[in-house]
Amino acid sequence: MSTIEFKSLGKRFGAQVVLRDINLRIEEGELVVLVGPSGCGKTTLLRILAGLEPASSGQVLIDGQDMTDAVPSDRGLAMVFQSYALYPHMTVQENLSFGMRMRGMPKPLIQARLERAVSVLQLQPLLGRRPGELSGGQCQRVAIGRAIVQEPGAFLLDEPLSNLDAELRLNLRLELIRLHRELRATMVCVTHDQVEAMTMADRIVVLRDGQVEQVGTPQALYGQPRNRFVAQFLGSPPMNLLACHDSPPPSSLHVPKQATHWGLRPEHWRVVATPQPDTLTMQVQHIEHLGSHNCLHGTLGTSQQRVCVQTEAEQDTQPGLRILLQPLLERVHLFDAQGLRMNPSEPHPGASTP
Ligand SMILES: Nc1ncnc2c1ncn2[C@@H]1O[C@H](COP(=O)(O)OP(=O)(O)OP(=O)(O)O)[C@@H](O)[C@H]1O
Ligand SMILES: [Mg+2]
Repeated sequence: MSTIEFKSLGKRFGAQVVLRDINLRIEEGELVVLVGPSGCGKTTLLRILAGLEPASSGQVLIDGQDMTDAVPSDRGLAMVFQSYALYPHMTVQENLSFGMRMRGMPKPLIQARLERAVSVLQLQPLLGRRPGELSGGQCQRVAIGRAIVQEPGAFLLDEPLSNLDAELRLNLRLELIRLHRELRATMVCVTHDQVEAMTMADRIVVLRDGQVEQVGTPQALYGQPRNRFVAQFLGSPPMNLLACHDSPPPSSLHVPKQATHWGLRPEHWRVVATPQPDTLTMQVQHIEHLGSHNCLHGTLGTSQQRVCVQTEAEQDTQPGLRILLQPLLERVHLFDAQGLRMNPSEPHPGASTP
């Protein structure tokens, strides 16, 4: 399995700068998930890694070798796209073996690899069908199977699960995690799905406007985001962000005067019955009943700042009521005017900044 490294990688399309100064090392067997808003450069980065798009500056190293200008077939990588691009006139079996046959691999080896992929992805009942006779999820499985039989140095997956319904998505997500463990495969995966990113990744890379905002374990990025952008990008519903001059942070906290905002995730408040030193009032406007828990939406104190608070499903609340909230002090994040997080906390071992 391969290591991958980007060194000062840059990309422009005409005058538009799409990626700038990307420095990132992906270890052998690591599963790295790229996240970021639409258009931030995730697909472009994968395409440059795969050799489908030239870099404008910088280097791509695979296993320590400079592969910046290598053709895709020399890179030993397999890419699975959101649109799975199977050959429509071939059966599943032919789709899976086509690449291997083209490379003139001996039949017994083709058969062995095919059997492995078929068993891992449970494709046996589908082998004789053509793509037109498969569901979206089945096509996706075949596309992943086609990548597996190549036994690549790394898998590049661009939103591989996004066309699937919720149940299939969950199944295939678990499948990918298992595959990653079994094959000890290096994987670089793009997703828009928070849960996918948090549950699959060894490390998450947050991109914005073609730049790396932060790299780290899911826990590190969730617990110690470097700035407001990362804080609000990861987590659903997002972290509540409150302006200190409108809603002062809890008075028992030591808050440096440079702090302009404080943040607290929806799950880090407690509904309490009686006022305590740092209690805030919330006017509940809307309740989302999500089965396992509720999300209360409303405004805080007299400031009218909007907040979302997660409560237990049994918590009895009505829209229009005022409730008392206790912020969990140790969970409060402080941000300065530049949006940088300024908590004097221990750096997390998995956290790093670009
Ligand atoms: N071939 C191209 N020519 C010109 N501009 C392009 C080309 N491909 C991508 N872009 C631009 O580069 C930027 C990054 O695109 P990219 O597809 O990498 O984004 P993304 O992060 O994958 O977005 P999404 O989440 O929507 O898939 C966008 O502004 C896009 O319009
Ligand atoms: Mg994309």
